[in-house]
Amino acid sequence: MAQDNPPARAHGSVSLDDPTQALMQDHDYMRQLFQRYLSTEDDRVKQQAGPQICEALHRHTTLEEAVFYPRVQHLDPALIARCEDDHHQADEFLLQLQKLKPGESAYDGLMQQLRDAIIAHIEVEERQLFPAVRSSSMNLQDLSLRMQAYESNLISTQAASSKGAARANPMH
Ligand SMILES: [Fe+2]
Repeated sequence: MAQDNPPARAHGSVSLDDPTQALMQDHDYMRQLFQRYLSTEDDRVKQQAGPQICEALHRHTTLEEAVFYPRVQHLDPALIARCEDDHHQADEFLLQLQKLKPGESAYDGLMQQLRDAIIAHIEVEERQLFPAVRSSSMNLQDLSLRMQAYESNLISTQAASSKGAARANPMH
């Protein structure tokens, strides 16, 4: 039986005490979405979950690359380089998925490979990177605030561009 549609973390919702909590919430969300996609034969569920996975992954990797990685890089440069390589690999999967439709066998196969790659990646982050960040002497509150600000800015930019699109094309 297909899993329920899981809730995404609200944009800008980042604990001030521990910025890694928000990233782990995103990881849980993605694990549930992969499970939902890969455990169903229902094309309607796949058509919903497939794009949700792509969007959640893009949102999460963008936040990490723009704000999180640059500020924790000094803790373990080799580990961050590995994490960035993982993200590039994920971007390649997303590009291939965009050319296909959820439910197609090629899409299903890519989704399985993407899941395996992402599960391995988030385990590295959760077991090595995040504990190193939490036990460091970094100003975690500052990092959380920057992550909040980044996501809030993204929301207002998206709202402004969709309003602009509505004005340019008032029939839609
Ligand atoms: Fe990541």
